[in-house]
Amino acid sequence: MRMVDLIAKKRDGKSLTKNEIDFMIDGYTNDQIPDYQMSAMAMALYFQGMTTEERVNLTMAMVESGDQVDLSDIEGIKVDKHSTGGVGDTTTLILAPLVASVGVPVAKMSGRGLGHTGGTIDKLESIEGFQVELTSEQFNKLVNEQKVAVVGQSGNLTPADKKLYSLRDVTATVNSIPLIASSIMSKKIASGADAIVLDVKTGSGAFMKELEDAKELARAMVDIGNGAGRETIAVISDMNQPLGFAVGNALEVKEAIDTLQGKGPKDLHELCLTLGSQMVYLAKQAASIEEARQKLEEVIASGKALEKFKEFVESQGGDPSMVDQPSQLPQAKYVVDVKAKETGVVHEIIADEIGIAASMLGAGRMTKESEIDLAVGVVLQKKIGDNVTEGDTLVKVYSNQEDNNEVEQKIIEAYSIEQEEVNNQPLIYEIIH
Ligand code: URA
Ligand code: CA
Repeated sequence: MRMVDLIAKKRDGKSLTKNEIDFMIDGYTNDQIPDYQMSAMAMALYFQGMTTEERVNLTMAMVESGDQVDLSDIEGIKVDKHSTGGVGDTTTLILAPLVASVGVPVAKMSGRGLGHTGGTIDKLESIEGFQVELTSEQFNKLVNEQKVAVVGQSGNLTPADKKLYSLRDVTATVNSIPLIASSIMSKKIASGADAIVLDVKTGSGAFMKELEDAKELARAMVDIGNGAGRETIAVISDMNQPLGFAVGNALEVKEAIDTLQGKGPKDLHELCLTLGSQMVYLAKQAASIEEARQKLEEVIASGKALEKFKEFVESQGGDPSMVDQPSQLPQAKYVVDVKAKETGVVHEIIADEIGIAASMLGAGRMTKESEIDLAVGVVLQKKIGDNVTEGDTLVKVYSNQEDNNEVEQKIIEAYSIEQEEVNNQPLIYEIIH
């Protein structure tokens, strides 16, 4: 088989067979196929697209290019959740103990934050003593005994995707639905999930700005998951503003604790119940979505979800007393109020800009190696639809630096305040099976 013939075949709009896709991904991972040929192929794929069968085959070839996590020692149906990326997305911290407390095994591998998006692992490390490195025996044991454990990424998962993603980044081929969908799904499948709930974001702060594009991506990922034998559901949710109020590591832990007690921001609470009920249903711990949701509401009301969070923190070496006394979490030296310069109604809060503001405070990494400040970040006081009067506090900035002018400027720019009322914007647009 020759790569040049495969490029020509795809260029002419024909479909590649499983053998051909395996040959290509194998050869590329092992450096037998050079970047220039793979670049030409990526561009051909970009223009010609891929059938569902090709997408499944590409995904599985990437899964098989490296290590795969084996969760077979864990009892029950392991359901993973993945978000296509948002700002202040605290859902994993809440969902892990929440669904575990109704009996769903949560064996979660999470990443660190880079740039202006946060990572669950960093957030957990703001809890004194919390250990994110576990052996696979420790990890499996914790999930079997108490249904939940979260570890940092380790091992050589999907090296083909890493290589191809870097190549796409510099050849203008990132923005292709089949390539994005297979890239994301290969990582989820290699992490060992039996079933997958996807949170596909849409809006100004999302990768997919338009609802139609988000739907197409969601459909593509659901078809790949189901085609690969992993039951997959996608929820399309809004990212025209950050989720919840808090953006920043320790601040989001505090927000997660509030939400587990039923006292969290409305949007974050609702999204967690929506995603959580899909997870509980896929794990076969409820006969319907309605029943799943009811179970989740019950464990929040009874305090069982919060107890599970404490148990989870303690079992990974963290100090559970911080759950009742969040003042033990890292605290910033300065709290600065950013005030509205005009009167009106909030129409939009550009999530990326808020993420960048938090990152400028030190909540995010500029490079993979940089240290982050777990205490800092922002807490929104006004969200879309809220009335503001000039001088009202829009955002509280938690900072360890004295001069926060640049950050304040960023925040002011992120807010659009208009005179007209705002149309009610849905939080959940659609659920795709
Ligand atoms: N995120 C991924 O993991 N892969 C893509 O291709 C795009 C976004
Ligand atoms: Ca948040």
